Amino acid sequence: MENCVLVVHGGAWALPLNKIEVSREGVEAAAREGWKHLMQGASAVTAVQAAIAALEDNPEFDAGYGSVMNDLGEVEMDALIMDGKAMRSGAVGAVSCVKNPIKLARHVMENTEHTFLVGAGAERQAKLAGLEEVEPSSMVTKEGKEEFENYKHYSSAVNSLYSGRALLTEGCIGHDTVGCVAMDYQGNLACGTSTGGITGKMAGRVGAVGCIGCGGYADNQVGCASTTGHGESLTKACLAYSAINFMEQGIPPHKAGKKALKRMLDKVGGAGGIILIDKNGDWSADFITERMAWAAIKGDIVYSGVHPGEKLEKPL
Ligand code: GLY
Repeated sequence: MENCVLVVHGGAWALPLNKIEVSREGVEAAAREGWKHLMQGASAVTAVQAAIAALEDNPEFDAGYGSVMNDLGEVEMDALIMDGKAMRSGAVGAVSCVKNPIKLARHVMENTEHTFLVGAGAERQAKLAGLEEVEPSSMVTKEGKEEFENYKHYSSAVNSLYSGRALLTEGCIGHDTVGCVAMDYQGNLACGTSTGGITGKMAGRVGAVGCIGCGGYADNQVGCASTTGHGESLTKACLAYSAINFMEQGIPPHKAGKKALKRMLDKVGGAGGIILIDKNGDWSADFITERMAWAAIKGDIVYSGVHPGEKLEKPL
Protein backbone atom coordinates (compact mmCIF):
# COMPACT_ATOMS: atom_id res chain seq x y z
CA MET A 1 0.00 0.00 0.00
CA GLU A 2 3.01 2.31 0.17
CA ASN A 3 2.36 3.52 -3.40
CA CYS A 4 -0.96 5.08 -2.41
CA VAL A 5 -1.50 8.85 -2.56
CA LEU A 6 -4.72 10.84 -2.65
CA VAL A 7 -5.30 14.60 -2.95
CA VAL A 8 -8.62 16.50 -2.96
CA HIS A 9 -9.58 20.15 -3.49
CA GLY A 10 -12.72 22.03 -2.53
CA GLY A 11 -12.40 24.80 -5.13
CA ALA A 12 -10.11 27.77 -5.73
CA TRP A 13 -11.87 31.07 -5.06
CA ALA A 14 -12.17 33.92 -2.54
CA LEU A 15 -13.31 31.49 0.15
CA PRO A 16 -14.71 33.75 2.92
CA LEU A 17 -13.01 33.61 6.32
CA ASN A 18 -16.09 32.16 8.01
CA LYS A 19 -15.97 29.20 5.60
CA ILE A 20 -12.35 28.24 6.13
CA GLU A 21 -12.74 25.69 8.92
CA VAL A 22 -15.80 23.92 7.48
CA SER A 23 -14.06 23.73 4.12
CA ARG A 24 -10.89 22.34 5.69
CA GLU A 25 -12.92 19.74 7.59
CA GLY A 26 -14.86 18.88 4.41
CA VAL A 27 -11.80 18.25 2.26
CA GLU A 28 -10.11 16.24 5.03
CA ALA A 29 -13.21 14.07 5.50
CA ALA A 30 -13.43 13.48 1.75
CA ALA A 31 -9.73 12.59 1.56
CA ARG A 32 -10.17 10.08 4.39
CA GLU A 33 -13.17 8.57 2.59
CA GLY A 34 -11.17 8.07 -0.60
CA TRP A 35 -8.16 6.82 1.38
CA LYS A 36 -10.31 4.21 3.15
CA HIS A 37 -11.07 2.69 -0.26
CA LEU A 38 -7.41 2.77 -1.32
CA MET A 39 -6.43 0.96 1.90
CA GLN A 40 -9.03 -1.73 1.16
CA GLY A 41 -7.28 -2.35 -2.15
CA ALA A 42 -9.75 -0.44 -4.34
CA SER A 43 -8.69 1.14 -7.63
CA ALA A 44 -7.71 4.78 -7.96
CA VAL A 45 -10.95 5.32 -9.92
CA THR A 46 -13.08 3.98 -7.05
CA ALA A 47 -11.20 6.08 -4.48
CA VAL A 48 -11.64 9.23 -6.60
CA GLN A 49 -15.36 8.54 -6.98
CA ALA A 50 -15.78 7.98 -3.22
CA ALA A 51 -13.94 11.19 -2.27
CA ILE A 52 -15.87 13.28 -4.78
CA ALA A 53 -19.23 11.78 -3.81
CA ALA A 54 -18.45 12.83 -0.20
CA LEU A 55 -17.80 16.40 -1.39
CA GLU A 56 -20.95 16.36 -3.57
CA ASP A 57 -23.00 15.35 -0.51
CA ASN A 58 -21.48 18.16 1.59
CA PRO A 59 -23.52 21.39 1.19
CA GLU A 60 -20.43 23.53 1.85
CA PHE A 61 -19.14 22.82 -1.67
CA ASP A 62 -20.42 23.82 -5.08
CA ALA A 63 -21.04 20.32 -6.44
CA GLY A 64 -23.99 17.98 -6.00
CA TYR A 65 -25.97 19.20 -2.96
CA GLY A 66 -24.90 22.84 -2.54
CA SER A 67 -24.62 23.60 -6.27
CA VAL A 68 -25.14 27.22 -7.27
CA MET A 69 -27.93 28.44 -9.58
CA ASN A 70 -27.80 29.47 -13.22
CA ASP A 71 -29.41 32.60 -14.71
CA LEU A 72 -32.82 30.88 -14.71
CA GLY A 73 -32.48 30.01 -11.02
CA GLU A 74 -31.90 26.33 -11.80
CA VAL A 75 -29.16 23.84 -10.93
CA GLU A 76 -27.05 22.34 -13.73
CA MET A 77 -24.08 20.20 -12.69
CA ASP A 78 -21.02 18.92 -14.57
CA ALA A 79 -18.60 16.11 -13.65
CA LEU A 80 -15.77 14.11 -15.18
CA ILE A 81 -13.65 11.10 -14.29
CA MET A 82 -10.62 9.58 -16.00
CA ASP A 83 -8.79 6.27 -15.55
CA GLY A 84 -5.09 6.69 -16.34
CA LYS A 85 -4.49 2.95 -16.66
CA ALA A 86 -6.86 2.32 -19.58
CA MET A 87 -6.99 5.98 -20.73
CA ARG A 88 -10.77 5.88 -20.44
CA SER A 89 -12.82 8.94 -19.52
CA GLY A 90 -16.44 9.90 -18.89
CA ALA A 91 -18.12 13.26 -18.40
CA VAL A 92 -21.59 14.70 -17.95
CA GLY A 93 -22.78 18.27 -18.40
CA ALA A 94 -25.83 20.30 -17.35
CA VAL A 95 -27.52 17.53 -15.37
CA SER A 96 -30.11 18.56 -12.79
CA CYS A 97 -31.74 15.56 -11.20
CA VAL A 98 -28.79 13.25 -10.46
CA LYS A 99 -27.72 13.14 -6.81
CA ASN A 100 -24.06 12.30 -7.56
CA PRO A 101 -22.94 13.45 -11.02
CA ILE A 102 -19.53 11.79 -10.48
CA LYS A 103 -21.26 8.38 -10.44
CA LEU A 104 -22.96 9.18 -13.74
CA ALA A 105 -19.62 10.28 -15.23
CA ARG A 106 -18.17 6.91 -14.22
CA HIS A 107 -21.16 5.14 -15.73
CA VAL A 108 -20.54 7.00 -19.03
CA MET A 109 -16.87 5.97 -18.88
CA GLU A 110 -17.48 2.31 -18.13
CA ASN A 111 -20.76 1.47 -19.80
CA THR A 112 -21.10 3.60 -22.94
CA GLU A 113 -19.11 4.10 -26.11
CA HIS A 114 -19.00 7.83 -25.43
CA THR A 115 -16.95 10.23 -23.35
CA PHE A 116 -19.42 13.08 -22.73
CA LEU A 117 -23.21 13.18 -22.35
CA VAL A 118 -25.29 16.26 -21.54
CA GLY A 119 -28.72 17.27 -20.27
CA ALA A 120 -31.74 15.07 -20.81
CA GLY A 121 -29.74 12.33 -22.57
CA ALA A 122 -27.33 12.06 -19.67
CA GLU A 123 -30.22 11.99 -17.19
CA ARG A 124 -31.87 9.21 -19.18
CA GLN A 125 -28.73 7.12 -18.76
CA ALA A 126 -28.73 7.84 -15.02
CA LYS A 127 -32.27 6.50 -14.80
CA LEU A 128 -31.39 3.40 -16.86
CA ALA A 129 -28.37 2.79 -14.61
CA GLY A 130 -30.52 3.09 -11.49
CA LEU A 131 -28.53 5.99 -10.07
CA GLU A 132 -30.18 7.98 -7.30
CA GLU A 133 -32.42 10.77 -8.62
CA VAL A 134 -33.33 13.99 -6.85
CA GLU A 135 -35.71 16.88 -7.29
CA PRO A 136 -33.36 19.59 -8.75
CA SER A 137 -34.49 22.27 -6.30
CA SER A 138 -33.45 19.98 -3.40
CA MET A 139 -29.79 20.44 -4.46
CA VAL A 140 -29.92 24.17 -3.64
CA THR A 141 -29.08 25.41 -0.17
CA LYS A 142 -30.42 28.55 1.52
CA GLU A 143 -27.02 30.10 0.86
CA GLY A 144 -27.24 29.21 -2.83
CA LYS A 145 -30.59 31.00 -3.04
CA GLU A 146 -29.15 34.08 -1.30
CA GLU A 147 -26.22 34.05 -3.67
CA PHE A 148 -28.61 33.96 -6.62
CA GLU A 149 -30.53 36.94 -5.19
CA ASN A 150 -27.21 38.82 -4.85
CA TYR A 151 -26.38 37.93 -8.42
CA LYS A 152 -29.72 39.33 -9.65
CA HIS A 153 -29.23 42.47 -7.57
CA TYR A 154 -25.69 43.26 -8.67
CA SER A 155 -25.91 41.71 -12.16
CA SER A 156 -22.25 40.79 -11.93
CA ALA A 157 -20.74 39.47 -15.13
CA VAL A 158 -19.83 35.83 -14.56
CA ASN A 159 -16.56 36.13 -16.42
CA SER A 160 -15.29 38.95 -14.23
CA LEU A 161 -15.69 36.97 -11.02
CA TYR A 162 -12.70 34.71 -11.53
CA SER A 163 -10.75 36.48 -14.20
CA GLY A 164 -7.82 37.56 -12.10
CA ARG A 165 -6.62 37.42 -8.56
CA ALA A 166 -7.16 41.14 -8.03
CA LEU A 167 -10.86 40.76 -8.72
CA LEU A 168 -11.31 37.98 -6.20
CA THR A 169 -12.38 39.90 -3.13
CA GLU A 170 -14.16 38.85 0.02
CA GLY A 171 -17.85 38.32 -0.50
CA CYS A 172 -17.80 38.08 -4.28
CA ILE A 173 -20.29 35.64 -5.70
CA GLY A 174 -18.33 32.48 -5.90
CA HIS A 175 -18.19 28.90 -4.77
CA ASP A 176 -16.27 26.48 -6.81
CA THR A 177 -15.83 22.95 -7.97
CA VAL A 178 -14.40 19.92 -6.13
CA GLY A 179 -11.83 17.41 -7.35
CA CYS A 180 -9.64 14.46 -6.48
CA VAL A 181 -6.56 12.70 -7.85
CA ALA A 182 -5.31 9.34 -6.60
CA MET A 183 -2.68 6.65 -7.05
CA ASP A 184 -3.66 3.13 -5.97
CA TYR A 185 -1.42 0.32 -4.61
CA GLN A 186 -0.72 -0.88 -8.16
CA GLY A 187 0.48 2.58 -9.18
CA ASN A 188 -2.60 3.33 -11.28
CA LEU A 189 -3.69 6.96 -11.51
CA ALA A 190 -7.15 8.55 -11.76
CA CYS A 191 -8.75 11.98 -11.55
CA GLY A 192 -12.25 13.34 -11.04
CA THR A 193 -13.86 16.79 -10.87
CA SER A 194 -17.44 17.89 -10.14
CA THR A 195 -19.17 21.28 -10.07
CA GLY A 196 -22.38 23.25 -9.96
CA GLY A 197 -20.55 25.90 -11.99
CA ILE A 198 -20.80 29.62 -11.32
CA THR A 199 -23.83 31.50 -10.00
CA GLY A 200 -25.69 33.19 -12.86
CA LYS A 201 -24.03 31.17 -15.63
CA MET A 202 -26.20 30.91 -18.74
CA ALA A 203 -28.55 27.94 -18.73
CA GLY A 204 -26.91 25.25 -20.86
CA ARG A 205 -23.36 26.45 -20.15
CA VAL A 206 -20.85 23.69 -19.46
CA GLY A 207 -17.44 24.80 -18.17
CA ALA A 208 -14.10 23.03 -18.02
CA VAL A 209 -15.47 20.17 -15.95
CA GLY A 210 -17.17 18.74 -19.02
CA CYS A 211 -13.95 18.79 -20.98
CA ILE A 212 -11.23 16.17 -20.57
CA GLY A 213 -7.84 17.91 -20.56
CA CYS A 214 -9.36 21.08 -19.08
CA GLY A 215 -11.14 19.98 -15.88
CA GLY A 216 -8.97 16.89 -15.39
CA TYR A 217 -6.67 14.36 -17.01
CA ALA A 218 -5.00 11.08 -16.05
CA ASP A 219 -2.29 9.05 -17.76
CA ASN A 220 -0.42 6.33 -15.87
CA GLN A 221 2.71 7.08 -17.93
CA VAL A 222 2.84 10.69 -16.68
CA GLY A 223 0.46 11.78 -13.91
CA CYS A 224 -3.04 13.00 -13.11
CA ALA A 225 -4.66 16.41 -12.56
CA SER A 226 -7.90 17.96 -11.33
CA THR A 227 -8.51 21.69 -11.80
CA THR A 228 -10.75 24.44 -10.42
CA GLY A 229 -11.37 28.12 -11.12
CA HIS A 230 -12.89 30.14 -13.91
CA GLY A 231 -14.25 27.42 -16.20
CA GLU A 232 -13.91 29.32 -19.46
CA SER A 233 -10.26 30.15 -18.68
CA LEU A 234 -9.48 26.56 -17.67
CA THR A 235 -11.02 25.45 -20.96
CA LYS A 236 -9.12 27.92 -23.15
CA ALA A 237 -5.83 27.09 -21.40
CA CYS A 238 -6.50 23.28 -21.29
CA LEU A 239 -5.21 23.66 -17.74
CA ALA A 240 -5.14 19.99 -16.73
CA TYR A 241 -3.36 18.85 -19.88
CA SER A 242 -1.01 21.81 -19.74
CA ALA A 243 0.25 20.62 -16.33
CA ILE A 244 0.43 17.01 -17.57
CA ASN A 245 2.50 18.25 -20.50
CA PHE A 246 4.94 19.98 -18.14
CA MET A 247 5.22 16.79 -16.06
CA GLU A 248 5.85 14.79 -19.23
CA GLN A 249 8.87 17.04 -19.80
CA GLY A 250 10.20 15.89 -16.42
CA ILE A 251 9.02 18.89 -14.38
CA PRO A 252 7.90 17.85 -10.86
CA PRO A 253 4.25 18.43 -9.82
CA HIS A 254 4.90 21.40 -7.52
CA LYS A 255 6.54 23.27 -10.40
CA ALA A 256 4.26 21.92 -13.16
CA GLY A 257 1.10 23.14 -11.38
CA LYS A 258 2.51 26.62 -10.83
CA LYS A 259 3.74 26.85 -14.42
CA ALA A 260 0.38 25.76 -15.84
CA LEU A 261 -1.50 28.27 -13.67
CA LYS A 262 0.89 31.07 -14.67
CA ARG A 263 0.53 30.12 -18.32
CA MET A 264 -3.27 30.34 -17.98
CA LEU A 265 -3.10 33.71 -16.23
CA ASP A 266 -0.68 35.10 -18.82
CA LYS A 267 -2.56 33.81 -21.85
CA VAL A 268 -6.22 34.23 -20.91
CA GLY A 269 -6.19 36.20 -17.63
CA GLY A 270 -7.97 33.53 -15.61
CA ALA A 271 -7.41 32.36 -12.05
CA GLY A 272 -7.77 28.91 -10.54
CA GLY A 273 -6.11 25.98 -8.83
CA ILE A 274 -4.83 22.48 -9.57
CA ILE A 275 -3.95 19.27 -7.75
CA LEU A 276 -1.46 16.82 -9.27
CA ILE A 277 0.16 13.43 -8.72
CA ASP A 278 2.96 12.25 -10.99
CA LYS A 279 3.82 8.66 -11.95
CA ASN A 280 6.32 8.53 -9.04
CA GLY A 281 3.64 9.42 -6.48
CA ASP A 282 4.89 12.98 -5.90
CA TRP A 283 1.96 15.37 -5.46
CA SER A 284 1.10 19.06 -5.25
CA ALA A 285 -1.79 21.47 -4.58
CA ASP A 286 -1.44 24.97 -6.06
CA PHE A 287 -3.70 27.94 -6.68
CA ILE A 288 -3.54 31.61 -7.70
CA THR A 289 -6.87 32.65 -6.15
CA GLU A 290 -7.16 34.01 -2.62
CA ARG A 291 -7.64 30.57 -1.14
CA MET A 292 -8.29 26.90 -1.95
CA ALA A 293 -9.15 24.23 0.59
CA TRP A 294 -7.20 21.05 -0.13
CA ALA A 295 -6.14 17.88 1.69
CA ALA A 296 -3.75 15.08 0.82
CA ILE A 297 -2.89 11.71 2.38
CA LYS A 298 0.34 9.83 1.81
CA GLY A 299 1.93 7.29 4.13
CA ASP A 300 0.44 7.93 7.54
CA ILE A 301 0.28 11.72 7.25
CA VAL A 302 -2.69 13.97 6.42
CA TYR A 303 -1.65 17.27 4.84
CA SER A 304 -3.99 20.22 4.37
CA GLY A 305 -4.10 23.89 3.49
CA VAL A 306 -6.39 26.78 2.66
CA HIS A 307 -4.20 29.90 2.47
CA PRO A 308 -1.34 30.46 -0.01
CA GLY A 309 1.77 28.61 1.18
CA GLU A 310 -0.03 26.84 4.04
CA LYS A 311 0.76 23.12 4.54
CA LEU A 312 -0.37 21.59 7.81
CA GLU A 313 0.60 18.04 8.75
CA LYS A 314 -0.95 15.61 11.22
CA PRO A 315 -0.93 11.85 11.74
CA LEU A 316 -3.61 9.88 9.92
N1 GLY B 1 -15.37 26.76 -11.60
C1 GLY B 1 -16.68 26.45 -11.90
C2 GLY B 1 -16.97 26.63 -13.30
O1 GLY B 1 -16.44 27.54 -13.92
O2 GLY B 1 -17.74 25.88 -13.81
